[in-house]
Amino acid sequence: MKLHRRQFLVCASGSLFAPFLAHGAIAAEAARPLPIPPLVDASNGPVTLDAIGSRADILSGAATPTLGYSQSYLGPVLRFVRGRSARLNVVNRLPFPVTSHWHGMHVPAILDGGPQLAIAPGSNWKVELPVDQPAATLWYHSHIHGQTARQVYGGLAGMILVEDPDADDTGLPFDYGVDDIPLVIQDRAFSDDGSFFYTNRGPATMRGFRADTILVNGAVRPKADVPAGLVRLRLLNGSNARIYHLSFSDGRRFHQVASDGGLLPAPVAREAVTLAPGERIEIVADFSDGNPVTLQSGADTNDPMRRMIGRLAPGSRSSADSGGASSFEVMRFEPSPGRGAGVTALPTRFAGAPRPDFGEPVRSRDFALNMLAGGRGMGMRMGGGMGQMSINEKSYDPRRIDVRMQEGETELWRIRASDMAHPFHIHGTSFQVLRENGKDVAFESTGLKDVILVDGEAELLVCVAHAATDKVPFMFHCHILEHEDAGMMGQFTVG
Ligand code: C2O
Ligand code: CU
Ligand code: CU
Repeated sequence: MKLHRRQFLVCASGSLFAPFLAHGAIAAEAARPLPIPPLVDASNGPVTLDAIGSRADILSGAATPTLGYSQSYLGPVLRFVRGRSARLNVVNRLPFPVTSHWHGMHVPAILDGGPQLAIAPGSNWKVELPVDQPAATLWYHSHIHGQTARQVYGGLAGMILVEDPDADDTGLPFDYGVDDIPLVIQDRAFSDDGSFFYTNRGPATMRGFRADTILVNGAVRPKADVPAGLVRLRLLNGSNARIYHLSFSDGRRFHQVASDGGLLPAPVAREAVTLAPGERIEIVADFSDGNPVTLQSGADTNDPMRRMIGRLAPGSRSSADSGGASSFEVMRFEPSPGRGAGVTALPTRFAGAPRPDFGEPVRSRDFALNMLAGGRGMGMRMGGGMGQMSINEKSYDPRRIDVRMQEGETELWRIRASDMAHPFHIHGTSFQVLRENGKDVAFESTGLKDVILVDGEAELLVCVAHAATDKVPFMFHCHILEHEDAGMMGQFTVG
């Protein structure tokens, strides 16, 4: 069913509060070609990333003020190669501090780009990152405490491809921008003058800010010309808060080949995947029938108010379901009949896939993701502002170390989220999900991850191989950026 624009707005915003709506401008946008960010090799000499303010033609007839790394919106896709160091020089040309956090990289905290590593206006940060981890799709984004949501929303984010020369005979499509395509999926709202609309007040803090217009690589619901064959899609949910439930409009199956931290041991056939903020997934889609198809998403119904009402009125939908009928378009694929694919058969196994082996945990820890520090009432959360969200009843404090770990020791982390589902992220490492709500996870969830959408309880095996000090610790936090900025974040050292 094709939804009328108005219905789409209402369904997709799905809030019990009046959603923040843009006015008219977007409805008439014709689909533009999918922008493919330049691929920049950081394993060959230093790459300069200029954090800049700019304008981007996202809507026709209006230049949207944006932020970007070396381009008007978002940043280039960075290529890192295992065994070679990646050299970067992040230059801050903005009038406020920024960082560049390498989300998913296994590097010491001093190189991680977290909140303690703010780059002052006019200064720069030169890093040489040792790259020693499996091939994977990672990303980078600014991480200034209290400003992360706003800065990422503005555009300070980009994708990273880690390649592994010893394990790159995967048989997967590998022609960047042709049959190996980066897709940064985000939702944005626009004001009448074409500028991004954003707020982190009131309900937007509580639910996380969600908007009505879907961008992929900075273009509104674009279309991609693809070969009529197998195409690898590297999906990154770069949204502040929106959870996508992705599928193809004609119900065709696809194969998931990788999660956050690298390949799975074998492809898994799927019809739909859920992608929470910060998560990445690699899929291989088959366009060999030559038919155009839409990538669509179910509505994001992750909402503490909805869940509370669900408890009072059993039978209504739970907060993390896919919202069924109210799906909306993310982008479109148009296979060119004349263009064959480079890869015609999907491998059955990936010999070079990482084999997570964490051994037995030496201790366990519990983390409760709370929507209000030291309190219980939902009503008190409505005020907006900072310092309301917490982990184990403690809001983020840069002067407090929450967890001290030992390098190379495996721990069991039990994460609980009851008010709504929260995407929990840990810096400096990948983890393995052991169980969700007491049950062993499905095969596609057994790979290396660094974000897990916790809806109830998740048990993770965590082992960190890189140092983090009191002065520059690692972070763990909810990747709903409004929650993170409001204090749902903690710090850990690795000694
Ligand atoms: Cu995507 Cu703390 O980061
Ligand atoms: Cu991170
Ligand atoms: Cu959260």
